[in-house]
Amino acid sequence: VELRQLNTMGIAARAAELFEVRDPVAVPALWARFDTAPLVVGSGSNIVLAADPRMPLVRFRNADIELISDDGDRVQWRVGAGKIWHELVMDSVAQGLFGLENLAYIPGTVGACPIQNIGAYGVEVNSAIESVHAFEPRTGEWYHLSNADCEFAYRDSLFKQDLSRFVITDVTFNLYRRGEPRLDYAGLRDALPDAATLTPTPQQIADAVVAIRKAKLPDPTVLGNAGSFFKNPIVPLQVADALVAQYPQMPVFRGSSDATRKLSAAWLIDQSGWKGHRDGDAGVAPGHALVLVNYGNASGADIMNLAQRIMDSVEQRFGIRIEPEPRVVS
Ligand code: EPU
Repeated sequence: VELRQLNTMGIAARAAELFEVRDPVAVPALWARFDTAPLVVGSGSNIVLAADPRMPLVRFRNADIELISDDGDRVQWRVGAGKIWHELVMDSVAQGLFGLENLAYIPGTVGACPIQNIGAYGVEVNSAIESVHAFEPRTGEWYHLSNADCEFAYRDSLFKQDLSRFVITDVTFNLYRRGEPRLDYAGLRDALPDAATLTPTPQQIADAVVAIRKAKLPDPTVLGNAGSFFKNPIVPLQVADALVAQYPQMPVFRGSSDATRKLSAAWLIDQSGWKGHRDGDAGVAPGHALVLVNYGNASGADIMNLAQRIMDSVEQRFGIRIEPEPRVVS
């Protein structure tokens, strides 16, 4: 199977087999056939194929939305892993439901969203997840993992700690008719229509987010990329303070606790002179320093070489080790 169309970086690679799951009841029997854990791909928007994957590939195609409960305010939807994430966001805002609107236009699928706890514009998906339904091949058990069970953190979860342990088949979301707009992220309020800045609808917020993302991030159908290529580093407060003393214009965000701060990898990379840099067909997006792009025929190794040079250069200059954000398949 040729994989260039199955990863948004547009890397040419090949896999021996690709299986599609339309109904989760097929999962235990399918996994029983595998000698090595397969690679489950959603939209292929968060992977770097550094080499031809030796494991079989699986894609989920179950995309149903099932209404679980509705108490007049809170509405619970159980959604199949194969549902395209942005379509789910648009379905929810079309019904006037709050919860997912800040996460509009993120590439990927519902089954992938809990793994790295996708986040943007001040919201992470864990704030809307009630539970995750998953199969554990090792034990043959099915689980409804509660939100707390999932151990969500910044771009992290229980699932990410051991990618082959659980097979996610569907996710249950809490959505609200009387939700609170979350507009703290710089620029989001400004992107709303004037009349909507005080009481925007979920649809208006989602539309504003789509406009910001389209303006900032390269469209993967035009220029291959996997969104943010590096995580924003979380550092001890003292480390952040020392850097701010040296670079007063450096952006600093809240960390996961009072003792930590989140720095902007984009800013660190930009300051190190990489924005718009190009090595053959591998490059750093001209418009956003955090996005590595494939101008056409970059291999996974070309992308990883560039990533390595950027990581080394940021470490040399700022003493901060940044890490790749997408899954590197090698
Ligand atoms: N900046 C630069 N140079 C640049 C771009 C940004 O210096 O080329 C600085 C700006 O000062 C800005 C700061 O970096 O204040 C943050 O940039 P931005 O608002 O674009 O967000 P980000 O930190 O680069 C994160 C997520 C994105 C998410 C946006 C919006 C991570 C790794 N990335 O990016 O997520 O869309 O915030 O919330 O947390 C993804 O994970 O694939 C992704 C795109």
